[in-house]
Amino acid sequence: MNRKDWLKLAGLTGLALASRPLQAIPHLVAPRISRRDFGPDFTFGAAAAAYQIEGAWNLDGKGPSVWDAFTHRNGKIKDRSNGDTACDFYHRYPDDIRLAKGLGIQHLRLSTAWSRILPEGKGKVNQAGLDFYDRVVDSCLENGVVPWLTLYHWDLPQALEDAGGWRNRDVVNWFSDYADLTTRRLGDRVKNWMVLNEPMAFVGLGYMLGMHAPGKKGPFKFLKAAHHATLAQAAGGRVVRANVPGAHIGTTFSMSHVTPRSEHEKDLLASRKVDALWNRLFLEPALGLGYPEKDFPLLKHIERYTQPGDMESLAFDFDFIGLQNYTREVIKKAFVPFLGAKFIPPAKRGVPPENITEMGWEVYPEGIYQLLKKLAAYPQIKKIIVTENGAAFPDKVEGNEVKDNARQSFLQSYLGEVLKAKQEGVPVNGYFVWTLMDNFEWAEGYRPRFGLIHVDFETQKRTVKQSGLWYRDFLSEH
Ligand code: FCB
Repeated sequence: MNRKDWLKLAGLTGLALASRPLQAIPHLVAPRISRRDFGPDFTFGAAAAAYQIEGAWNLDGKGPSVWDAFTHRNGKIKDRSNGDTACDFYHRYPDDIRLAKGLGIQHLRLSTAWSRILPEGKGKVNQAGLDFYDRVVDSCLENGVVPWLTLYHWDLPQALEDAGGWRNRDVVNWFSDYADLTTRRLGDRVKNWMVLNEPMAFVGLGYMLGMHAPGKKGPFKFLKAAHHATLAQAAGGRVVRANVPGAHIGTTFSMSHVTPRSEHEKDLLASRKVDALWNRLFLEPALGLGYPEKDFPLLKHIERYTQPGDMESLAFDFDFIGLQNYTREVIKKAFVPFLGAKFIPPAKRGVPPENITEMGWEVYPEGIYQLLKKLAAYPQIKKIIVTENGAAFPDKVEGNEVKDNARQSFLQSYLGEVLKAKQEGVPVNGYFVWTLMDNFEWAEGYRPRFGLIHVDFETQKRTVKQSGLWYRDFLSEH
């Protein structure tokens, strides 16, 4: 593709070709970083997920997922939207992959939608679904973009949810069969696999708080689903290992640096509890350390759902751990059922509004450094890859530009902290921006925009933002 064609795809004219010098957002002094500082082996990329971008929710034999069902129920999504069309990546993937390539993005993290491949979650295979992922993978490879695939980014087939979903222990076998089918088909070309995306998010929000699909609530539903997800996490790793020669296998965790509001013993205890739940619950069993029930006693009840041999089955020797970090949490003791702790929102702690994103999350770059150090302290972890990091700010297209300085300064600042950790010997070896292009942000709908590329959801027009041009320039310094 020549330069003129790429500019057309990117929604740009000559005016917007260069990234702008940064006007840092107040309180955030973005460090000078260069691609070279990270070394040639460090992987840089961008991430996205099937339900958030593909659309085509019921095309070519795809079955409904829990997110299709959830978004089609009234009142679940803030702007009443859904992922029926999303970014229409299902039809536009060739252009979107070319657009990524034009930004110098050599690694693209996507996910496969289980119910596109197995419409009912098990049994009958939808060849058209597998064909679609074949084409996406081939298109990446033709463009010199390395595909990274996550097997489960939250879109459980609805037919399986109808049979209990993550609360039904059979889900471990259902998931293994789906992983087997998918890796057999794509494993000759895809070597980088992630098993689950953020189990704490889909189990916590989906089965404890009811804020995400499938919208279930209750601590015991949560504990049951958590145990099955942890079993599936390791089982999935074993399937990929068996099927894909030369596989590079990871799984991803949402993590936030957690600090107590005060040095008071009760706040310290509350904060340790939240840390165990938020950051350690799904990680430590994968590392062979069991559940962190000492710091979060409720987890002892998982015993009810365990069978002999489970504690060994929870462990898997992952090649890398995917860290997904956006913000930090400050905790105080409070009378909250089961948790005994409260998250203090940033505005209540005096964080200035320009350091709070559209998600209500505090911009806190040092948090990613702290988490990298925390992960590096586990001798079982061989390598860490930041599989998601990014921010939503209110972007505007003006002319054909999106001057998202705040996002650029966010990315630079977080990357500066990743570099600092790396220079101190933390085995961090990759970084993926969340996200390639604006997309469906789950319960928040389309309002929060995280992309390096702006998407007009009426027309599907893509416009590369200033942050995207900055990333391109940064990636070209090697
Ligand atoms: C993460 C999800 C991802 C995206 C970002 C903002 O928790 O993995 O899909 O929504 O948050």
